[in-house]
Amino acid sequence: MLRAVLKPGKERKVKNFYPTVFADELAEAPKAAGVARVLAAGGEPLGVGYYDPTARAALRVYRFDDGPLDAPFFRHRIEQAARRRAGLGPYHRLLHAEADGLPGLVVDRFGDLLLVQVRTRGAWALQERWLDPLREVTGAQSALLVPTGHAAKEGLALKRAPLWGAPPEQLVVEEDGLVFAIPLDLAQTKGYYLDQRENRRRFEAGVGPEDRVLDVFAYVGAFALRAARRGAYALAVDQDLAALAVADRTARALGLALDLRQGEALSVLTQLVDEKRRFNRVVLDPPALAKSPRDVPRAKRYLVALLARTFQLIEPDGEVWLSSCSYYLKETDLLEAARRAGADTGTRFAVRAVFHQPPDHPWIAQIPETLYLKTLVLGVQPL
Ligand SMILES: C[S@@+](CC[C@H](N)C(=O)[O-])C[C@H]1O[C@@H](n2cnc3c(N)ncnc32)[C@H](O)[C@@H]1O
Repeated sequence: MLRAVLKPGKERKVKNFYPTVFADELAEAPKAAGVARVLAAGGEPLGVGYYDPTARAALRVYRFDDGPLDAPFFRHRIEQAARRRAGLGPYHRLLHAEADGLPGLVVDRFGDLLLVQVRTRGAWALQERWLDPLREVTGAQSALLVPTGHAAKEGLALKRAPLWGAPPEQLVVEEDGLVFAIPLDLAQTKGYYLDQRENRRRFEAGVGPEDRVLDVFAYVGAFALRAARRGAYALAVDQDLAALAVADRTARALGLALDLRQGEALSVLTQLVDEKRRFNRVVLDPPALAKSPRDVPRAKRYLVALLARTFQLIEPDGEVWLSSCSYYLKETDLLEAARRAGADTGTRFAVRAVFHQPPDHPWIAQIPETLYLKTLVLGVQPL
């Protein structure tokens, strides 16, 4: 087996289960890519990982003891992850990469179909060892490899392809009685946002027939449809027409009234302000706005603009559910953006609640990057 020796002091983070070691943290790097034993500067074995000389995150540690990265190892990890999701029903994130001890591998389960994201060269190179265990443990009839931006960033040019079985034409997901049939062309890039499931439940619980709900960045309208079935007026906004078409079909199938508007979020919010529309519940659930620390100032400016328009639309005592799925945008950034928008529009608000991702997207305390979803519930409270 190859050997990777850490620089002095770098053993601490690996001993504390942090799985990523950067190239400049290695005193001795293996000569080639492959499975490597990870050693402290003094020679103490710390674990076993995959070394990729082309990646800045050169070493990803899979196990924190000494042993092989073989099929039984992967089976154990996958079984452990599946056990922790018991009781969640057939639609959930089964593997959340390093948060489940499997760097580079993300698997969403939709009943008998798995959507598999391979995000690193290491996870791709180890495919022969995890593929059979994944099929056997899940018993899923088909698995589809879906391309991701993470893989592209690593120079891994993966295309949509079945890993086994014959994937159906549509991804079908049921959430609390709402059934979405999402065409695979759409599902391969956007999937279904399982991580907002609990927020959608919480949101629905607070909606009544008298409410006027605006769901911005709605995707297939999962927030808006929940509001519609509580009897509220609901308008779903997204720039993706294919996603809104799914929302429309879902609404019709259930006999629900749902308004739709396609367009760029900020432009649509501006139109709605111009039209003097009013709402008392607004959901803002943008895509990852900051993919690196460099993007944060621009992302915050965009959030300020979105929130300022939102505050102009919202009734006193209304609520804004603001989410961010960017690790780099912290809760404090969201709060600061909201304060700036409040200052621009003369809006006073309370932070009524803060939520994070559900447990099938585990947040491991020692791996800060695993906390990515933040949702602030802001209640407009004029004096
Ligand atoms: C995180 S998803 C929203 C998930 C959704 N709220 C749910 O619960 O399923 C982000 C959505 O924003 C849409 N989107 C991205 N940029 C946009 C923009 N500038 N204006 C409008 N929609 C946008 C994407 O098409 C995607 O559907």
